[in-house]
Amino acid sequence: MARKTRKTRKRLKPATQLVHGGIERSQFGENAEALFLTQSFVYDSAEQAAARFEGKEPGFIYARFANPTVAMFEERMRLLEGAEAARATASGMAAVTASMLCHLRAGDHVVAAKALFGSCRYVVEDLLPRYGITSTLVDGTDLDQWREARTPDTKTFFLETPTNPTLEVLDIESIAGIAHEVGARLIVDNVFATPVLQRPLELGADVVVYSATKHIDGQGRVLAGVILADNAFIDDHLHTFLRQTGPSLSAFNAWVMLKGLETLEIRVKRQSETAALLADRLADHKKVQRVYYPGRPDHPQYELAKRQMAGPSTLIAFEVKGGRKGAFNMLNELRVIGISNNLGDAKSLITHPSTTTHQRLSEAARREFGITQALVRLSVGLEDPQDLTDDLVNALDTLG
Ligand SMILES: Cc1ncc(COP(=O)(O)O)c(C=O)c1O
Repeated sequence: MARKTRKTRKRLKPATQLVHGGIERSQFGENAEALFLTQSFVYDSAEQAAARFEGKEPGFIYARFANPTVAMFEERMRLLEGAEAARATASGMAAVTASMLCHLRAGDHVVAAKALFGSCRYVVEDLLPRYGITSTLVDGTDLDQWREARTPDTKTFFLETPTNPTLEVLDIESIAGIAHEVGARLIVDNVFATPVLQRPLELGADVVVYSATKHIDGQGRVLAGVILADNAFIDDHLHTFLRQTGPSLSAFNAWVMLKGLETLEIRVKRQSETAALLADRLADHKKVQRVYYPGRPDHPQYELAKRQMAGPSTLIAFEVKGGRKGAFNMLNELRVIGISNNLGDAKSLITHPSTTTHQRLSEAARREFGITQALVRLSVGLEDPQDLTDDLVNALDTLG
């Protein structure tokens, strides 16, 4: 970049970092973050090109390695998370996959919670074993199972919390301690919590991954992922893996994410407040069998959620009476809330996990972590809470 402007100071509060963090201005002094839609960069001389490739001179080389707009997004995420380093990827799944493949090798062992997003489970259960990396799945809420699953080859623990879709809350600090006793790393998929509600690195996690596609974009536009860790992990493992295998984030998508981050905190706070209201309203409805919401005292990990998170969740899961038929009928009656498997959007979205996000698991595997045919998952948006309440109540009222 031609001209660097004021560096963001580290001690700024998260809301300020979300707006200003990582900005690098060009010679034009643009206020909004610039979109550098370029694959390559031109050097002043052949010597300069050689020096960049040798790593003797800092600077951009090729967009698969780094791009100024992507770098601004990475820096804003790094400041927000309080990490030493951040690297962006093309999607959340690219982040999850890279965070494991970049450092694991044949003979290594992974312990992961059973309650994972379907594609994450595929990576742990099906993909890694193809390359000789074995895995054990545990009930993430049971610390003894994490302890007992460890082998001399265990290199990585992997979990998401709150879990998708039943919103179990896992004890990051304790699980990190169990991983560290055997020299393993804990990778936390923090998608459901967002950086606003939960800070895994401060709780002892070693690596944090995001699908920025969700709340970080927040308006359902483009895909992105982020991996945050210490410099050693990024330099020794991730950097070369990303550079050579190429799951790079496009500059345009990084620019969308930078603008999404500006409003992340106010959106997540508002969405969790509305979710808390809706969870109580749903729990009172006679057609609702069970509500899963970490902000309600009837949630099994209510106390842990209060300790570990700055707020409960923008998502609610609940069981509708009448099994799959009841759930489908209710979804089909909704007028404001859209039927979609996405989440974290400004628009409220609802899905039936057993036939969508977790469809590839067997019924028995789904049942192990509470995904029944009656379960639906609601991602609460920014609409007026009363309109959302009315939409849900009207749809539930139509069930016979
Ligand atoms: C918990 C969790 N992790 C990872 C992902 C994958 O993200 P992406 O769709 O950006 O690849 C998702 C997507 O729904 C998710 O819910």
